[in-house]
Amino acid sequence: MADEPPTAAVRPNADGTDKNKELQSPAVHSAIARAKQEWECTVDALPQVVCVLDGHCNIVRANRAIETWALGRVREVQGRNLHNLLHPGCDACECVLSHCLEEAWAALPVSGAANFELRDAVLGRVLNVTLRIMSSGIQDAPASPAAERAVIVLSDITELHTIQADLQAMNDQLETRIEERTCELQVSREELSMLSVQLMTAQENERKRIAQELHDSIGQSLSAIKYSLERAVEMTHARGPEAPRALLLTTIVRVQQTLESIRSIAMNLRPSLLDDLGAVSAVRWFCREFNEVYAPLKAHADLSVTDDAVPVSLATPIFRTVQESLNNVARHAQASNAFVSMRSDDSLLTLEICDDGIGFDPRKLGGASTQGGHGLSGLRERASKSGGTFSLQSKRGCGTVVRVGWRIGRDRERQPVTTHTGFTLLELLVVMVIIGILAGFVAPRYFAQVGKSQVKAARAQIDAFDKALDQYRVDVGRFPTTEEGLAGLMTAPPGETAWGGPYLKKAVPPDPWGHAYIYVSPGEHNDVDILSYGKDGQPGGSGESADLTNW
Ligand SMILES: Nc1ncnc2c1ncn2[C@@H]1O[C@H](COP(=O)(O)OP(=O)(O)OP(=O)(O)O)[C@@H](O)[C@H]1O
Ligand SMILES: [Mg+2]
Ligand SMILES: [Zn+2]
Repeated sequence: MADEPPTAAVRPNADGTDKNKELQSPAVHSAIARAKQEWECTVDALPQVVCVLDGHCNIVRANRAIETWALGRVREVQGRNLHNLLHPGCDACECVLSHCLEEAWAALPVSGAANFELRDAVLGRVLNVTLRIMSSGIQDAPASPAAERAVIVLSDITELHTIQADLQAMNDQLETRIEERTCELQVSREELSMLSVQLMTAQENERKRIAQELHDSIGQSLSAIKYSLERAVEMTHARGPEAPRALLLTTIVRVQQTLESIRSIAMNLRPSLLDDLGAVSAVRWFCREFNEVYAPLKAHADLSVTDDAVPVSLATPIFRTVQESLNNVARHAQASNAFVSMRSDDSLLTLEICDDGIGFDPRKLGGASTQGGHGLSGLRERASKSGGTFSLQSKRGCGTVVRVGWRIGRDRERQPVTTHTGFTLLELLVVMVIIGILAGFVAPRYFAQVGKSQVKAARAQIDAFDKALDQYRVDVGRFPTTEEGLAGLMTAPPGETAWGGPYLKKAVPPDPWGHAYIYVSPGEHNDVDILSYGKDGQPGGSGESADLTNW
């Protein structure tokens, strides 16, 4: 601390010894000087501003920190009011520091010490201020605070404050994040349990649907067939082998219908086409079936993508999206037309199903009041699981658009398709039962009746060609040209190493009336056109003479 002449009051001791004399001794004097210097050095070394103040808050002594705090030189600040030194030109009435100092000062006679913290804008520091009364050591010292001295310690705790504030902010952030994560986890747990309930319900509903369909359609038909065959046996016994002819012909038609029902059930479960040829062929097939079942509602397919361009992993999501969306159109839209389009631009594969129906308000989906209805949420889920983005647009009176887009890599490749065709285990079982029944009762000559339905035979042959051609295209990468014709299905075109035929069990047959099938590639109506002119062998005609085509 800066030098100032010692000011301790010197008086005779109570025991009467002359203390004055003792103090005059050089040894005592030098001891006091040494102690004083040691204390000064110690206080000067402190980073805090330490001042001794008189009763009017004026500085009596100050340590060197006054200079490091840039408040002035140690000698020059003596006698100056502390507030004026800290805040030059400040209006004390308005000043928080001045106010705090006054309060602390007033508290000293009672508590002996006072402490406060404040962010001081003038100094640009956060201050911790401690004020402690300085006892003079003289017993009858004046009781008035104005007559007392006090020591004040000003500590700069700005850095501490900043660190504390940062810590607090980090803490707050952490807590917010934890709260958010807890909420997210809660939501995803709820979603998960809801999904698993939905899944179980969907599975159960599906089982119910299949069981009902088997019972209602296949079961009923088989019972009818059994009944007819029994009647046929009775008729044979009673009236001879020709008697049940008409009945058996009807039964054959019924068997055919049952087969178709089985195929349709199996196809709806999972069409084998999806695995054999790919998503685009399966979608095309589904639209054709849809048009037959739901006419006059018409599904228009605009598929400018080839099976090979669709990654295998997307085949199922694509097919299910088309299936669910078209079923929704049929069930809810009251539409006349549905449009299914698939395109691939650069690396984006887009599937879109829209209709010209009544539309609906998508905001009402998924609410607690929603009845059933997991189709669309299932599609959304399926799209996101397969890496796609799902969007649904609908408005009352303006139809509905379902769109899913997938980013696909340039090196996308379709894996080789499996070559098994057609029948599922379920179909085979039922077919075996039917054949068993038929074989037991019906003489082989009745089977010859099947061949008489030439139109049906021609249709079946065209279907078989269609399928074989699709297989050909999967192997070779194109359809046979018009010149190569359907014969390309039986013998490899010269130099065609990828050819994996023959694709038909027997040589390409003529149509049931003995005319060659007409084959055009690329076709006018389809990828390839296959055509029989019917019984008359001429374009046009009706009944058995009508043209039969693959479009
Ligand atoms: N193309 C559409 N046109 C009009 N309304 C539609 C269409 N698609 C869906 N909706 C409406 O949205 C609802 C939800 O469809 P979603 O497919 O999720 O369920 P759902 O078809 O009722 O039942 P689920 O598909 O589970 O058998 C439908 O009930 C229907 O009201
Ligand atoms: Mg639905
Ligand atoms: Zn001030």
